[in-house]
Amino acid sequence: MHSLLASAALSALTYSALAAVAADNTVQHCPIDGVCYRVGVPAASAASDSGNIYLQLQAPTSYAWVALGQGTQMSGSNIFVLYTDGTGNVTVSPRTGTGHVPPESNAETKLELLAGSGVSADGATMLANVRCANCRTWPGGSMSLSDSQASWIGAWKSGASLDSSDVDVQISRHDAHDSWTFDLTQAAVANDVNPFVAAATGGSGSGSGNSGGSSSDPDADVDTSAGPGSGASPAAAAPWYVRQIPTITSAHGILMALVMVILYPLGAVLMPLFGVSWVLHAAWQMVAFLAMWAGFALGVVLAHRTGLDFNSSHQRFGTAIVALFAIQPIGGYLHHLYYMKHQRRGLVSHAHIWYGRVLMLMGIINGGLGLRLADESNRLVIAYSIVAAVVSVIYIGGALFGVMKRRRAAGAAARGDEARKGS
Ligand code: HEM
Ligand SMILES: *[C@@H]1O[C@H](CO)[C@@H](O)[C@H](O)[C@H]1NC(C)=O
Repeated sequence: MHSLLASAALSALTYSALAAVAADNTVQHCPIDGVCYRVGVPAASAASDSGNIYLQLQAPTSYAWVALGQGTQMSGSNIFVLYTDGTGNVTVSPRTGTGHVPPESNAETKLELLAGSGVSADGATMLANVRCANCRTWPGGSMSLSDSQASWIGAWKSGASLDSSDVDVQISRHDAHDSWTFDLTQAAVANDVNPFVAAATGGSGSGSGNSGGSSSDPDADVDTSAGPGSGASPAAAAPWYVRQIPTITSAHGILMALVMVILYPLGAVLMPLFGVSWVLHAAWQMVAFLAMWAGFALGVVLAHRTGLDFNSSHQRFGTAIVALFAIQPIGGYLHHLYYMKHQRRGLVSHAHIWYGRVLMLMGIINGGLGLRLADESNRLVIAYSIVAAVVSVIYIGGALFGVMKRRRAAGAAARGDEARKGS
């Protein structure tokens, strides 16, 4: 009886020891939320410093393309560009970096797209598991497959899906890029098979869906799970903060367009056009002002989640405009005090009016930059431009009407004075 238990325990121990030895380690690096790169090197490849390596690229479909490269910089890098192919799967285009210009596609690289690749069922994530048969050397460089400090680069571009199976498809410049090293000795996979899907034999620890990673941690992590590519659907792997990006983008865009194109300009012409009281004007503009800050907060969340981190003109310009708007309510209040005292506009009034006009115009233009940043369709850009033009005409009409009304009032007052003098 005892010996039976002992042998059972022994075999269990032996089994787990073997399982531990056989467990696949892949290294991973997630430079920003949702974008992860993983590498696995079969033990045989590491030992012979030749043969297959396995790569995984994963990203939200809010990116037009996401790329991984071997090397320290674009020039001379062996690059793999991931994008959707338009049929629910993905394209991984091997390219060679030649400098700060679009990398050229490289037919030499022997890449094979593997199981687990594709666009997730909810459309939120694209994922590629690839085997590279000759990534030990490439035109322009080489990488030892047992290098403990192998240099890699990554880059990503947010925007509409490329939906192309053409490996030569034109890509536009990245939003941002990154470089790091992988300790390939920590990336050992036991057998020369796709390490990113659960083995049919059911190895332990697979499919834990450890996605996302730490965006703040610049160091590569060792990923002992099989990664989010395991199992049938990479779908579940997109974390909530990535899935929300398109919704937040729309909310930010709609709110800001409403504020800059509709609320502020209409609030500005309310008084001259309809002769409403200053109280309504002030209340209206304060609502718009608060909505603007809410829109800005959404923009800040987006900047963080997309990794764009204020390196685009839309974000920098927008931040400046919103900051400059902060003093507009004070100007309005000073104008009000002046008007109450003198019953006419003074320097502070014109400053309030023109400061607001310039900022509204900048805000409207910045909306266009935002649509471009989001790679929105031309139809949306045209619709935005038309609405902005119509509102501008109403605004200018309202402002001119206000000028005429004041002239007439001034004229009437002057005539009244004359009449009194004459009598
Ligand atoms: C249309 C394609 C591309 C263009 C026009 C382009 C252009 C540029 C430019 C102008 C720079 C220097 C300024 C900056 O830091 O932004 C740069 C840097 C960089 N790019 Fe690209 N790039 C392209 C694609 C890629 C791809 C596919 C990768 C793949 C990983 C990549 C990775 C990098 C990296 C790591 C750097 C910093 C190191 C270096 O200067 O080479 N780029 N790129
Ligand atoms: C994508 O293509 C690869 C390679 O042909 C295949 O193994 C994988 O199952 C495909 N994915 C989908 C979602 O069709």
